[in-house]
Amino acid sequence: MTPGFPGFAPEFPGVTLERIQSWLPTIVTAAVVLGAVIVALVVVSRLLRRLAPRVHWYLFGFPLLRTRMRRSWRHLCLNADLTGTDRPTTEQLGPLLVRGRPIMPVLPLLRRIRPRSFGATAVIVLHPGQVPEPFVNAAEAMAHAWGVHAVRVDARRRGRVRLTILTADPLTAKRTEAATWATGPPLKEAAMTSRPSEAIEPLASAVAVPADLAADVGQREDGQRWVVDLVTFPHWLITGATQSGKSTLINAAVARWAARPVALVGIDCKGGMELAPHAPRLSALATDRAEAADILAALVAETQRRMGLCRQHGARNIWQLPPDARPVPVVVIVDELAELYLVASRADKDEALRATTNLLRLAQLGAALGVHVIVAGQRVGSDFGPGVTALRAQLAGRICLRVNDEETVKMTLGDLYPDAVDAAQQIDPAVKGIAVTTADEAGWIRARSVYLSPEELAAVIAATAHLAPRLPGLTPPDA
Ligand SMILES: Nc1ncnc2c1ncn2[C@@H]1O[C@H](COP(=O)(O)OP(=O)(O)OP(=O)(O)O)[C@@H](O)[C@H]1O
Ligand SMILES: [Mg+2]
Repeated sequence: MTPGFPGFAPEFPGVTLERIQSWLPTIVTAAVVLGAVIVALVVVSRLLRRLAPRVHWYLFGFPLLRTRMRRSWRHLCLNADLTGTDRPTTEQLGPLLVRGRPIMPVLPLLRRIRPRSFGATAVIVLHPGQVPEPFVNAAEAMAHAWGVHAVRVDARRRGRVRLTILTADPLTAKRTEAATWATGPPLKEAAMTSRPSEAIEPLASAVAVPADLAADVGQREDGQRWVVDLVTFPHWLITGATQSGKSTLINAAVARWAARPVALVGIDCKGGMELAPHAPRLSALATDRAEAADILAALVAETQRRMGLCRQHGARNIWQLPPDARPVPVVVIVDELAELYLVASRADKDEALRATTNLLRLAQLGAALGVHVIVAGQRVGSDFGPGVTALRAQLAGRICLRVNDEETVKMTLGDLYPDAVDAAQQIDPAVKGIAVTTADEAGWIRARSVYLSPEELAAVIAATAHLAPRLPGLTPPDA
């Protein structure tokens, strides 16, 4: 028998010093190669991260995140109370029934972890008896455990909770999309998405289609476009403190609608200061509350005329009318809602009541008749009067920019998306234009509007001014 290497002998008979010496070059080469591969991987990873972040994400970032998610899942569930049990939680102890926490908890299943350009998505399968709420509350804990920017939890599918995992905040990037607006093509592209073969010009005589009401206004944090769609949500409420980006957002939407067969009406009781740049493309503009009351009354009359039209044709909304009878959709933009409600004297009271009642009627009747309202304000509170909650109930689309008071956040989001209130309160005041917004399939999401410089907006308005439709009973601001 070959004498073994002392120490190795019992376990590795036949491993001799000579043999080890003969392996040494191979071991050293292997170590050097392994080291070189690791160094190369680190270098490639760093380079990719800088030059092709998306490729880096799919090759390196995502596999690491998935490993981290799987490894931390058990601890996360235990610490954040996300576990279920398959045993009774009450037991008899002598004459007493004792309730306790299970020793053997069952983890909900973490499934379908998929890479996405913005991070990843995953699905949690709930155990019978579990509800989504603890998962919604644990979103912050998940973000910390996995070292990501944020986790959004969406629980609309029964028995499942969907996670949207965002690795970074795409909305705080320094480069806004102003550049893409300045170059021109995106606006035309956007104008043409609903009508692939037409440029801006031929739309003058075109009949509106539902797609005309969708305005691409910016970017969502999940990488998708932020679309204010008046077909999905007919009326919108936008709140934001001064300089938070309300007018910028309205500008972005108006620039989209301006190129389409859509009538735009402005109610700007800040003396027309905010909506004046849109004036050439507006079908009417109110610069004080008395004018606002008149314009809103004329629009209520117009909705009643449209009702008659629909009745005649047996249609339930304007889109069911034959194209030659279909009236143009109207978007009424109210900048600074508080000005409509403000009451200082007896005379104010009647005027305010007339304006706000007509606005409420428009919101109640308008959706099917192609009359949509977009209401913006720095504050919304119950102190405006009982009418304001009735109005809010009609404004299903909600956008909350940075606001200063909790009541406004709660008024804007709290009734529909209680878990969005926190997200809205955390909006960074240093980055303008970030909002928490209603999103069709995701419930709510953070998003940021594009910024148009005054020159870019003026160019769009000048190019589309001739498209402003005439509305019965209303005079265009320039006339
Ligand atoms: N999405 C954005 N991207 C970049 N900058 C923005 C964005 N939104 C707003 N800003 C910047 O913030 C400034 C103020 O925005 P804006 O006028 O829209 O605020 P506002 O909410 O309408 O304020 P106010 O209540 O005083 O009318 C803009 O001039 C612009 O510089
Ligand atoms: Mg403004």
